[in-house]
Amino acid sequence: MGTIHTDYQLLAAQVKELMDDQPHWVTALANVAALLAQTLEDINWVGFYLVGSILDGKLPPDELVLGPFVGKVACTRIPFGKGVCGTAAELDQSQRVEDVHAFVGHIACDADSASEIVVPLRANGKVIGVLDIDSPSKSRFSEVDQQGLEQVALCVQTHLRLQ
Ligand code: SME
Repeated sequence: MGTIHTDYQLLAAQVKELMDDQPHWVTALANVAALLAQTLEDINWVGFYLVGSILDGKLPPDELVLGPFVGKVACTRIPFGKGVCGTAAELDQSQRVEDVHAFVGHIACDADSASEIVVPLRANGKVIGVLDIDSPSKSRFSEVDQQGLEQVALCVQTHLRLQ
């Protein structure tokens, strides 16, 4: 399969447009997940996990909770350090996995997933969640995709109103 080119600048502008003036994070992130699902080629899951304690003071600060997404039913809670998402959250670092079956501890939600990218979302210098995208093709996400999605994540975190 040839290289996929995505206009991440346009995507970030569309994300800003969708999130501007949205009073609630659920509404904003639901539409951003839909936008990413309809824009990005060759993906089978896209969505957000958010740090539990940020959503509800009774939930742990070191666990991710499933947020708005497009795709198959997914696991609802991922401890920091577990799976690709928990690793990205714990290390505060994007994880680009060419082959999920080679990633020790990968959490399989959709058996079709072959590669994955997870990008942290931050507020006040701390991880508040992650953007997670799965593809049925190995090595779907390039360095360029990572940079583009980091820009998109930056745009999301800037416009997110978590309260
Ligand atoms: N694969 C992820 C779990 C979430 S699903 O992909 C939606 C992980 O290993 O953290």
